[in-house]
Amino acid sequence: MEEKNILAALDIELQKVSFLKGSMSIVVIPEKYADKALGYKRAVDTVLRYKEYLVIGLFGMDADQASGLFLSIPKGIAVYPHDGNDIASLFFEATERLQEMGGSPWVKRLWDSIKETNAMERQEDPESRFISASFYQFLSLLASHPHELARITADMKETDRHWVKDYLPHGLAQSLDNDTCSQGEQVTDLLEKWQYKEKMDLKQDKGKKTLRKFRNIEHFFTLPSISQEIIDLASDSLLAASRMARIIEKDPVLTSRLLKVVNSAFYGFHRQIDSVEHAIVILGNEEVVNLAFSIAIHKILETISPDHAEKLWEHSLIVAHLSQWLGPFLGYRIKDKIYTVGLLHDFGKIVFLQRGHFISDSGRPSSLDDLANEEMDSGLSHAEMGAYVAERWNLPSGIVDALQCHHLPGKAKDTALAVTVHLADVIAHTGSIHMDMVNNAAVRYLSQRKGPPLSQDMVSKAYQETISRVKQVLEV
Ligand SMILES: [Fe+2]
Ligand SMILES: [Fe+2]
Repeated sequence: MEEKNILAALDIELQKVSFLKGSMSIVVIPEKYADKALGYKRAVDTVLRYKEYLVIGLFGMDADQASGLFLSIPKGIAVYPHDGNDIASLFFEATERLQEMGGSPWVKRLWDSIKETNAMERQEDPESRFISASFYQFLSLLASHPHELARITADMKETDRHWVKDYLPHGLAQSLDNDTCSQGEQVTDLLEKWQYKEKMDLKQDKGKKTLRKFRNIEHFFTLPSISQEIIDLASDSLLAASRMARIIEKDPVLTSRLLKVVNSAFYGFHRQIDSVEHAIVILGNEEVVNLAFSIAIHKILETISPDHAEKLWEHSLIVAHLSQWLGPFLGYRIKDKIYTVGLLHDFGKIVFLQRGHFISDSGRPSSLDDLANEEMDSGLSHAEMGAYVAERWNLPSGIVDALQCHHLPGKAKDTALAVTVHLADVIAHTGSIHMDMVNNAAVRYLSQRKGPPLSQDMVSKAYQETISRVKQVLEV
């Protein structure tokens, strides 16, 4: 009874909510975080100090929203009506949840709220999903503290453990399961010192500024109309050769380059191919569409990119070809997107280079540290930047999503597509599939796949062939 009296102010609020048939979250926060919590609360929220806790009532909020509001503070949350009917039961429920989770309650909440924030922002503001969906600096911090991370994940449910591990390279994710080391910092201290919220705010600010800056550069965001038509063609595999040829032939430069490539050593035909229609009959729709798209995109690059972007372009062509080869092994049979995603996967790097932004070393697969460094510079990594440009080009949403997730394929809507391009990227850099550096979700996907057998020998053979074929194309 005594508690009920002390919590009387909140009880009155609860009665109002119950009368209005609304909802209310009761958040219990340890006293030592009270000042921080008071800074984040909304003006309409009711707050009181009780014993060693700060108790806050938030109207119209569910647990995830409440968690998001006090992101970096340890807390217990109970929600009216489903956790109880009166203020005392809600308070005890919330306190119990705070204690139940031991040393790292809010880390779990943090993951939950990252998930929730991503989902919310995806719906609300299309631009913010490029800014808020990832936080590589946080991931690289966790990756550099494997013992602490092992302690966090040890308390999690299996599905949550998977969810966290899918942000990490496979080698590290695997080591967490065997980590029994009890040393290392207290997780709460570590993250508090690191200042999650402040760093996230700074990242988002920078990201917004970067996108604002790029929004005004018109030439990046106008995909030549011919490319748009080519992308539309790609989804229509039964299109007559003559109709497709008419569309490509509208662009004479594109046509002459296309004919040069099909007549090169790359294809090795003995007879001269003298028209686009002839090329389509011999090579097939898909091959010609991919070729035409590569040439069209390269034409944009010539006007905007510095010389060393050429190296990146070569890498992009290699990944596009390897993705096309790898797709069927991973059960990915829809061909129209895979080449484009491979071709554009690092387009964000080219955009960054052009505007003098930092990009990670392009000679190796990007690590979490690499992506974190890009993010520190511009608020985004090249994956989000590339996805943003692709969206401005009105490319299909499946392509935009795969570009954004090519380093975190487990977070993609189409896992098979993102995993294919992620693996093709690693192969393009190393000549084989280096499991330790491959993302954990991709390794899991690979181990569960039902496609034809895939050996390291086949991979290195495909790699060698792709390298020499792409070199021939580039020489034209
Ligand atoms: Fe990349
Ligand atoms: Fe790449």
